[in-house]
Amino acid sequence: MLFLLLNGPNLNLLGTREPDIYGAATLGDIETQTGQLLSSMGVELECFQSNAEHQLIERIHQAKKDQVDYILFNPAAFTHTSIALRDALTAVAIPFTEIHLSDPERREAFRHVSYFSDVAQEVIKGQGSQGYLIAAKNAVKTLQQTI
Ligand code: DQA
Repeated sequence: MLFLLLNGPNLNLLGTREPDIYGAATLGDIETQTGQLLSSMGVELECFQSNAEHQLIERIHQAKKDQVDYILFNPAAFTHTSIALRDALTAVAIPFTEIHLSDPERREAFRHVSYFSDVAQEVIKGQGSQGYLIAAKNAVKTLQQTI
């Protein structure tokens, strides 16, 4: 099985970015830990982060060509704005989990809208960097049940 871990804008700054909200783990830590966990379950992981909406869209299109089985996605601020990214995910029809380190619903009102939640397999939020590991484990379980 092949998974893609996608992270949106400003998540390259994790570790130094508002650590009281997002925690101390860097994006590198998260990618390594998620990769190790998935590898222990026999799943290969590719990782991609971009601050640009079109690059994330292109990477989702590429995932279809690469026969990616599942996408773990923190769309970051694009969560609240991007119909184009939502359309990319529904176009390729690859199941995905929406992940947030913080809980957007407990923050500013403009973060309460998500363009992804109603089409995601699962939404994991407010669990910090652990949320990526929970999302990965749950996704493997779900896929194993459907095989
Ligand atoms: C975030 C929450 C978003 O509202 C915010 O724009 C982010 C990160 C999170 O992981 O908590 O950049 O997706």
